[in-house]
Amino acid sequence: MNLNNKTILITGASSGIGYELALQLSEYNCNLILTARRKELLDELSRRISSKCKVISYQSDVSDKTSVKNVYEKVIGEFGKIDIAILNAGIDQKTRITNFNSGDAEITMGVNFFGLVYWIELLLPEFMREKRGMIVGVTSLADVKGFPGSGYYCASKAAAGHLLESLRIGLKKYNVKVITVKPGFVKTPMTDKNEFHMPFLIDVDKAVKIIIRGIEKEKRVIEFPLMTSLSTKLLKCMPYSMFEFIFSKDVKKK
Ligand SMILES: NC(=O)c1ccc[n+]([C@@H]2O[C@H](COP(=O)([O-])OP(=O)(O)OC[C@H]3O[C@@H](n4cnc5c(N)ncnc54)[C@H](OP(=O)(O)O)[C@@H]3O)[C@@H](O)[C@H]2O)c1
Repeated sequence: MNLNNKTILITGASSGIGYELALQLSEYNCNLILTARRKELLDELSRRISSKCKVISYQSDVSDKTSVKNVYEKVIGEFGKIDIAILNAGIDQKTRITNFNSGDAEITMGVNFFGLVYWIELLLPEFMREKRGMIVGVTSLADVKGFPGSGYYCASKAAAGHLLESLRIGLKKYNVKVITVKPGFVKTPMTDKNEFHMPFLIDVDKAVKIIIRGIEKEKRVIEFPLMTSLSTKLLKCMPYSMFEFIFSKDVKKK
């Protein structure tokens, strides 16, 4: 897809991958709509790129259906349409066995799964009617297994990934493109908190270059870096006992 003159929504643009996506996409002749909860960061980013492209930012919580609908209506009022929706907002909340609670699960699913669902619900009718549009959902290579301490996160990303996969097939006849972005470890404020070793960690500018190239090529799935992608494929077909053995050692160390 040629990104020139497109109207592109980025959720979770106040930090990390979303922020860098806005920076790099501002080099294209496109309109950018940025959303996140921290409006002051969006305003600062907008000021940085406003000489290069038309940019508007909205404070919005993707896990709040009404908040998403309000933004959608404002965007349609301002731009008339969205061409590409990059649904990137996400959180990584630890899953604690000693304090297992549904509240944490609801928060993670609210952002990482329903944050996509609410936007897709609003976008689809017009995309299908006009036989156009692209939905880019950011999931994770961590969707491949239930890693210890990351149960809600892995489950939410797997749920989002399966949803995108099923939509991709169903929407083919309407010419609506669905892309799944599955990053490995990328250096952002989300991973800066991690105290464990992150294999094949890559810089955010490199990650975003890969994502943009994948969108331009309309790849179904954009997964990177290669070594992490291969490792997760190996983990997926590994016997359960071996997976448990490897990751039990990791749990004992903590
Ligand atoms: N970094 C990695 O290694 C990695 C790996 C695989 C997948 N991913 C995925 O990539 C995406 C971006 O992650 P990142 O590394 O860039 O993390 P990040 O730096 O923490 O950024 C997360 C973004 O999501 C937004 N967000 C969080 N909760 C939100 C909510 N309720 N409503 C609206 N926006 C919300 C945050 O903005 P506010 O706090 O201002 O709302 C922020 O802009 C996430 O979906 C993440 O799961 C990241």
